[in-house]
Formats: sequence, C-alpha cells, structure tokens
Amino acid sequence: MLGTIIGIEEDTVLLKLAINLNEFQSLVNLHVVMEDGDKLLVGEIVDIKDGIAYINLMGEFINNEFVFGVIRKPSFGAKVKLISKEKIPMIISVSDYKEREDVYIGESPVYPGVKIGFDINSFFANHFAIFGSTGSGKSWGVARLLQSIFDKKMTVPYRASIFIFDAYGEYHSAFKDISKKVPELSFKAYTTNVNISDTEILKIPLWLLTVDDIALLLNAESPTQLPIIEKALKLVGLFVRDESEVIKQKNDIIARAILDILSSGKNAAQIRDQIFSILSSYHTKDLNLETQIYQPGYVRSLKQCLIIDASGKLREMELLTNFMQSFLDDSIELSMPDGSFMYGLEDLKMALDFALLSEGAFNSNKVYDENNVLKVRLHTLINGDYARYFECDRYVTRDEYIKELLMAPNGRKAQIINFNINYVDDRFAKIITKIYSKLLFDYAKNLEKRASLPFHIILEEAHRYVQNDNDVNLLGYNIFERITKEGRKYGVLLGLISQRPSDLSETSISQCSNFLIFKMLHPRDIQYIRDMVPNITNEIVKRLRILQPGNCIAFGSAFHVPVLIKMDKPNPAPSSSSCDVSGNWFIDRE
Ligand SMILES: Nc1ncnc2c1ncn2[C@@H]1O[C@H](COP(=O)(O)OP(=O)(O)O)[C@@H](O)[C@H]1O
Ligand SMILES: [Mg+2]
Repeated sequence: MLGTIIGIEEDTVLLKLAINLNEFQSLVNLHVVMEDGDKLLVGEIVDIKDGIAYINLMGEFINNEFVFGVIRKPSFGAKVKLISKEKIPMIISVSDYKEREDVYIGESPVYPGVKIGFDINSFFANHFAIFGSTGSGKSWGVARLLQSIFDKKMTVPYRASIFIFDAYGEYHSAFKDISKKVPELSFKAYTTNVNISDTEILKIPLWLLTVDDIALLLNAESPTQLPIIEKALKLVGLFVRDESEVIKQKNDIIARAILDILSSGKNAAQIRDQIFSILSSYHTKDLNLETQIYQPGYVRSLKQCLIIDASGKLREMELLTNFMQSFLDDSIELSMPDGSFMYGLEDLKMALDFALLSEGAFNSNKVYDENNVLKVRLHTLINGDYARYFECDRYVTRDEYIKELLMAPNGRKAQIINFNINYVDDRFAKIITKIYSKLLFDYAKNLEKRASLPFHIILEEAHRYVQNDNDVNLLGYNIFERITKEGRKYGVLLGLISQRPSDLSETSISQCSNFLIFKMLHPRDIQYIRDMVPNITNEIVKRLRILQPGNCIAFGSAFHVPVLIKMDKPNPAPSSSSCDVSGNWFIDRE
C-alpha cells in the first residue's frame, strides 16, 4: 500500500503517502492501481507535494484488459499500489506482441526496459501527425517508425508504398541501403537536383494533369480562369496532331475571332489592327494575311481587303465577313484530353494562345487581363529551370507512370519512394506535392478492390504545403483536406511532419488520429495543439516543453493512454544533424 486516499477532486485522487519517499526513485509519472471491491482502477501520479501524491484517474482493468476512461471514482477505502511490471505494457504499450500486427518503436523513459509499441493498423490505417521544434527528433522519429516496420524478423512489408516528400533531402541516407539489410525490400529516389547523376530526376508527364493541376501550376487565382484552361486542354489535342488533320478546327477558331472583331462596332482602324495582329500570330495555310480571296472578275489578298478607303471605312467589310463565315464549322466538338496522347509545355502554350483567341479575349479587356496572366506564367515556366521537370521523352499512361514510381531500379517493388524536393522553391514544391497526392488519390480511388494497395504520403515540413490556401475557392477543394477526409477508405494516408503546426490547415489536423509530439516551445504552437488535438490534457501540454531530443508524447487511437516514448535511434539515421560549427571553425595552431 502506498498510502490512503484523503480526497478526490474531479479526476484527481489525493493520496496521503505512507512510504518513505527517500527509499524510492521518483514516483512521478508512475502508474498505480486502486483495488476497490471488484474494480481495479488505474491512475498516474502527476505530482507530489507535502507527502501527498496527486493521481490522475485514467482507466480500469476489465477482464484483465486495460480500458481507458473511468465511470466510477474509487472509494476512500481503495487499496492503492504501484502497478505490477506485467501490467505496465497493457497500459502504455502492446500487451501481447504479435509480429504481423504490432511494432515497437522505442522504450519507456519512465519504466526502463519496457518497450513501447502499437498495433500497426491502429496507427498506419489512419492519418498521423508528428510535431516538434527544430532539432527535437522528428526526422529521426520518422526514420525509426518506418525502419521498425522494415526490420521485422519473420515478415516483410513487401506491399507497403510509402511516398516521402523530403524537404531537405534527409531521408536518402536512412533508406538507400534498405535492400542490403532486407533483400526483399527496395528504395526508389527521385530528385529535383539536376546535378546529381546517380538519382533519377523527377519528371511529371504534363498529359496526366487535369484542369485543376494546371490551374495550380499556373497559379490561377479565380474560378473564372478555369474555363480558359479547360478550353486550352481541349485544344491541346489539336496541336499535337498534324495541321492537315486539324486545319478545319483551327480555321474555325481564327474565323470566329475575326468575325467577333468585324461585328464589334469598333472603328475601321482598330478593326484592321486587331485582325492584323490575330493573323500575324495565328494562321493556317488556308487562312492567313496572304490568302487569296476570289471574286467574280478579280482576286485580292486578305491583307488588301483590310485597306481603309477615303471615307474612313473598311470597304470590303462584307466580303471579309462572308469569307470568314465560309470557315465556320458547327460540327466541331472538342473533348478533354484523356491522357491517351503525350504533349508538352510548348503544346500547351499554343493551345492556351488559341483558347484565348477563341474565348474572345481580344474583345474584352478584363477577360483578357485575367487570362493573359496565365499565358505569361506559362511562358515564365517554359523559360525557367522548372520546365525540365515536365520534359518527358516517351509516352506513359497514368497507370504505367504510377507503376514506374513504385518500381525500384532493380526492377522490384519499391516500398519507400523518396522525392527530394530540396532544390525547388516552396511554391513549386507545394505544387509537386499536390500533383502527386492527387495522382495517387485518384488512382487509389479507382482501384477495383478498395484500399487493397495502401499509399502513405509523408510530408516533411507539412506546414509549407498543407495550408488554408485559396484552393477551396478556386477548385472547390484542397487535395490534402480531401485526402484527410476521404483518403482512409481508399487507403491513402497522410503523415504530416511539422515544426509549425499552427500554420497547417485545421481540417487536416483535426482528421489525424495519432500524434507524436516532440519538444515544443513556441507558445502559439502549443496553444494551437491544445485547441486542435482531440483529448489533449494540461499534463501533456506541460510536458511538451521539457522533452529531450528523441523523446515524444504519443497519443491517439493507437495508444491506450498518452504515452511518453524514448524513440529508438534510427539505423542508419537520416542526414539531419545540425551544423558542426566548432569542428568547422577551428584549426590547430602551427
Ligand atoms: N531517438 C533519438 N535518440 C537519440 N538522439 C536523437 C534521437 N532523435 C533525435 N536525436 C538527436 O536530435 C537531433 C535532431 O533530430 P532530428 O530528427 O533531425 O530533428 P528534427 O527533424 O525535429 O529537426 C539528431 O541529429 C540527434 O542528434
Ligand atoms: Mg527534420
């Protein structure tokens, strides 16, 4: 017996200690059982003051199994003892470890030698979040978490597919030699660094992107810009084909744009200039400034028909109108590309130009400005360094592309697919993570057998990508929020790693079922975690400030109670160590 209960305040039991405290190591954080008739309640000592232990009630043993939550408080006569060694794992870890179902990731800092683990499904079948200040142990923790699964003796997670968006290129070292350790498993790496020769450069086939992806890529701000992108995608199919096959469609678009101008009511000089400008940029072999227009008795070039007469009028207005009308073709139907032919940024640019033309952009300044900005951005992308990530030299279907992502250089299935996005700016990195997440989500959604191939998407520095940004306005959804809400049922699961949880999208955090929280200092982040995370107690919040690197508090559906974990060291470790200033500064004196 530790002592006698002298008070119960809400969920805290006050116990007058009857032992000599000097004979014990610290009792704080230890668990106690309270035998109360046929009940066996469990609590945790959170404080000791003036010989009184403050014990938080946590749960009870029912049929020799720990159940979280207390319905009835103990009576004052309950016998309070420190918990027995055998019962500890039942509360803070897995009591009956099964190789295929459970995994150990560390040790208890409170009970030395007690391994801490969880049921794999309870953790990995849900979204999870790992938070902590810089240097608190997040990256090492992620590496350990995954290595623990890969290092099992009797079984291998051959069908795991874990996509890591590696903001600093840290994880390569932790996983590159995985097949040396476990021959059945393989690692696949993509990089945004074009100067590394031994790693495949990340390449995104443009033809697999949807209107939404292109809108993000071109940084569209308003839903009113989507129709022009949609139109461009419909037209892109025309431009990758030979002109002879699509000349009717092109002529139709050019003729319609010119007819719009002819009937715009503008003065003759404006009309002439605009038609000149259109035909200089857009023309076909049948319809250009030199095209001959035949009339009974005479022939004139289109250019000559634009001459303004002495009275300031376009004399051949009617002739031009009739000529243009002869190109109209109402039977043309355009459809969205279905990913069945390849195209690149240049093709898209031409299609966007024609889309602008066909949407009458020349007639309205506002529409023109709003859409022209897309054209300018596409131009910038084409002329910038990032264009190379869209340069693909052969056609693949979406399914083939995803199969290739999942295939290691040795031809076997890769379990870890690492994208090193360290070499692009945050905006572009965000687009990359969104494009891939959407691609994987759409693929998983269409799998015949739902959730039969789980995809885990791990986002380092998630606060840079998973934000409350304009996507909901623009597209009606944010892909990360969609995955956090719907991904579970299709087996698409997010792991959000962040030092700035308060910058993360709230919807996404609130859908996470498990949390590993390393040391956190910033009051704003601590407050945010307190507000956002379900079931977090003041006790946990207090401890967050004083955790050592590699120690975290884990809670959520995979843990019976919030648990302190000293994570095992990853082996090999990610290359995330901080800069060795003294080692780099000093040299020995001669
Ligand atoms: N489980 C651990 N055991 C021992 N040391 C650790 C552990 N986790 C982290 N560390 C130490 O903390 C440093 C920072 O860890 P890291 O995971 O890179 O932090 P973060 O990703 O949160 O910035 C590591 O270089 C290592 O020295
Ligand atoms: Mg890190």
